[in-house]
Amino acid sequence: MATIIDGKLVSASVRGRIREEVAALSEQGIRPGLAVVIVGDDPASRVYVNGKKKACAEVGIYSEEYALPASTTEEQLLELVAGLNQKAEISGILVQLPLPAHIDSNRVLLAIDPRKDVDAFHPTNVGHIMIGDYQYLPCTPAGIMELLHYYQLDVAGRECVVIGRSNIVGKPMAMLLLHENGTVTVTHSKTRDLPAVTRRADILVAAIGKTRFVTADMVKEGAVVIDVGMNRDENGKLCGDVDFDAVKEKASAITPVPGGVGPMTITMLLENTVRAAKILKTGC
Ligand code: GUN
Repeated sequence: MATIIDGKLVSASVRGRIREEVAALSEQGIRPGLAVVIVGDDPASRVYVNGKKKACAEVGIYSEEYALPASTTEEQLLELVAGLNQKAEISGILVQLPLPAHIDSNRVLLAIDPRKDVDAFHPTNVGHIMIGDYQYLPCTPAGIMELLHYYQLDVAGRECVVIGRSNIVGKPMAMLLLHENGTVTVTHSKTRDLPAVTRRADILVAAIGKTRFVTADMVKEGAVVIDVGMNRDENGKLCGDVDFDAVKEKASAITPVPGGVGPMTITMLLENTVRAAKILKTGC
């Protein structure tokens, strides 16, 4: 039976530290502020955005929400981003993805001031991550690294397999594991004999968005299994990309859904927002 990696516990500890830092910064006249932009009415995005706003309030971070209709044009969204880039109360800007199909996400992400890019999605920040010299890390991979550190799960020299190659999770996750000297394989929908690859993993990160995609036969005995999925099963129950009940019998450590990676993603966003406020005020 695996150790259950408790994202709520680790989050609470990190958020406690962030709350103290926000209070200390306020003494110096530094007030972190997050703008969250959501376009359209995707229910999953709405849940994420509510969670982000609530977490800000919890640690004393000021936040603003911009909920725009699905009919918003790319130009209107770019105009909003330009305004937020200039707005003194705002240190971090987050545009919730996915955006409606008629909007070019890359163009919008490129318009965000890299110093306010608390998602670390701007190509400037992606480049910094690539060379290992960065101010911001993308929230989900950063949260996963925090969990691995907290539970003292070493990456160096180990076989790490990431399922999924998204810009939000898969690619940056691979980079962070590589920075910690993991031997990293990124798999995707065209990977041949995926189970043979995943069975090599000492650390397996599932970020595919398919309910219970990773079954016990795909997992090596004693592996660390990190589940990034946030799906609804046929009964509407929240579940991950991993068949948790079966895989926990084989893994040495595993994240549950909910209560694993999810709370850490939001916590890292808070951390990036505080960092942004400091960077904007002091330049470092
Ligand atoms: N959609 C799913 N995850 C994320 C995230 O971490 N940031 C943003 N902006 N959109 C997302």
